[in-house]
Amino acid sequence: MIEKKMFNPRLSRFGQDKNLTVSRSKNLWLIITGLGFLIFGFALTAQAQTPLSPAAKQVLQVYLEIVQQEKPDFTGFEAKLGEKFYFAEREHSKKEDTRSCALCHGDDPASIGQHVTSGKTIEPLAPSANSERLTDAKKIEKWFRRNCKWTIERTCSVEEKGHFLKFLYSF
Ligand code: HEC
Repeated sequence: MIEKKMFNPRLSRFGQDKNLTVSRSKNLWLIITGLGFLIFGFALTAQAQTPLSPAAKQVLQVYLEIVQQEKPDFTGFEAKLGEKFYFAEREHSKKEDTRSCALCHGDDPASIGQHVTSGKTIEPLAPSANSERLTDAKKIEKWFRRNCKWTIERTCSVEEKGHFLKFLYSF
């Protein structure tokens, strides 16, 4: 096999012209390094921020307007507060258990969760890990209504929902 390669006319042509070989491989390395940086750059920006879906943008804008009607100096929703809300554990008034959003959606919203009563798998909540998430305003509201009632025995406030969505977009 090696012997065969040595007599490969294409290779021996390069062999004869050493300068040609060197400049070609140099160019190749430049291209590879350049591409590497490009891909790395894209990966960095993609990780820094997942772009909001049109539905999420719209929902967050409406939430913001509602909150600002009551609190004119409210500056915006914060992922940190959403995180706190996500992990907060609350004792249920009738059922003797402690509930949180993380109970079904898991400690990492970018990973798969598991429904605490049915045992069914729940796809990741973070849009960076699941592109179908937060793409439909009706669906977002429907699940907020259901899950908030189950978890905290009331509807979530608009402010809580805004922080929560910001948190999901921080992954
Ligand atoms: C008892 C289990 C359970 C708990 C606890 C739970 N969820 Fe969910 N959640 C679900 C299920 C099931 C779905 C829908 C499954 C699917 O779409 O894959 C869902 C979906 C959602 C969605 C829909 C996102 C989208 O656009 O697809 C939101 C938002 C959400 N949950 C918010 C919350 C919040 C906020 C809490 C805590 C107050 C919470 N969940 C607690 C089970 C739960």
